[in-house]
Amino acid sequence: MKAQIIKILLVEDNPGDAFLIQDKLKNDSNIKFELTHAEYLYQAIALLKKEYFDVILLDLLLPDSQDLETFVSIQEEAPNLPIVVLTGIKDEKIAIQAVRQGAQDYLDKQKATGETLGQAIRYAIERKLTQQQLKQHSKKLEKANRELEALNQELEAFSYSVSHDLRNPLTSINACCSLLLEQNNDRLGEETQEYIQLIRNCSHRMEEIIDDLLTLSRMKYSQIKIESVQLSAMVETITKELQQKQPQRNVEFVIEPEIEVRGDRALLQIALENLLNNAWKYSREKQTAILEFGICQLDDKEQIKNEEGENKNLTNSSQAHSAYGRVCTQKTVGLLERNSKTSFPSPPDFDRKKDTKQLVYFVRDNGVGFDMEKAEKLFTPFQRLHSASKFEGTGIGLATVQRIIHRHSGKIWCNAAVDRGATFYFTLEL
Ligand SMILES: Nc1ncnc2c1ncn2[C@@H]1O[C@H](COP(=O)(O)OP(=O)(O)O)[C@@H](O)[C@H]1O
Ligand SMILES: [Mg+2]
Repeated sequence: MKAQIIKILLVEDNPGDAFLIQDKLKNDSNIKFELTHAEYLYQAIALLKKEYFDVILLDLLLPDSQDLETFVSIQEEAPNLPIVVLTGIKDEKIAIQAVRQGAQDYLDKQKATGETLGQAIRYAIERKLTQQQLKQHSKKLEKANRELEALNQELEAFSYSVSHDLRNPLTSINACCSLLLEQNNDRLGEETQEYIQLIRNCSHRMEEIIDDLLTLSRMKYSQIKIESVQLSAMVETITKELQQKQPQRNVEFVIEPEIEVRGDRALLQIALENLLNNAWKYSREKQTAILEFGICQLDDKEQIKNEEGENKNLTNSSQAHSAYGRVCTQKTVGLLERNSKTSFPSPPDFDRKKDTKQLVYFVRDNGVGFDMEKAEKLFTPFQRLHSASKFEGTGIGLATVQRIIHRHSGKIWCNAAVDRGATFYFTLEL
């Protein structure tokens, strides 16, 4: 293949040095070049304005410009051209500064051979090209991100105002139904009363959905305030309230004490309420339900638990994750997990280095559970695995929890089996 001719602009005030550099380059058979020489900065700038070059070889000490200023002026004139700084011993420090500001390389003009000079030129051109391509890609990506963010915001604003505007007519429907039932009770037949009651129930459900949707959209953009939050105390309060609402239920609570995290108190309250409400709701068919809140750490040994609950040592970590998932360290593993034979799955996009150091919080119950094949859907709004006739709900809770965890730069994932309970794990990285 015929070597491409590289057009070089050499900016060098000393004609002797300029001659030497040109001579050295001629000795490098790998480079075919055409060299234009400028002795002053103003000449170099004038040449850059009217001619195309592939690379600039730049001496920083010129009669009309000194040090870094020379580099800055040339870079301003030709921001897309690779610049290799040629230094004398005196200006090496400045040359390094020039590299920090975007010069591709710096060479001692006395020591450089034809080969090193030629190599530096070729690499500088390649590097600059790659940098420019990267810059273009990241600009495109940034633009796409901005567009997506704007679209998301629009969608959120839309669903917020729709939900908001739906509330008013619903309130009127509810009020009219109540008035009809209260004031005309005697005149209404039994069937009509039932119909009105049905309208009321439906509009109540719609109110619930709207409220949940409003919470969901608020989670995305509400200001986040980071402080120290006592998670265990929060769980204690929520579970007490649940028990008070249904005192007839027989529920054993296992709450790891004194868990404290950094996060947004109000958002974490909503997340825990949702997870604990679910644990409470989906374990209600158990004679003795067990609700657990705890903390564990993903084991950084290659230890996994197989379907029969035996521990195995695997050397291949990807095999470990994909086949079975990781187990908690025995010290901190939850009560139900120790008793049951379920494995501990890895979080989504498992990053071995980072995630094995993470503390993982979990909410677990021994209720109806679900089929893990369908688990992916659960964090999408309106996706429910249980029928509304059996378990009431809007299907927006877990989507809300996921948003809250993501706003804390954390991950959320689950593990469950039909009739063997469910565990929701999450991390918080703020
Ligand atoms: N602890 C749990 N046990 C069993 N299934 C659960 C549990 N938590 C959530 N689910 C399943 O995930 C679905 C989505 O949960 P969520 O978004 O909170 O909606 P909702 O509770 O209103 O149905 C639920 O409908 C249910 O099928
Ligand atoms: Mg729920």
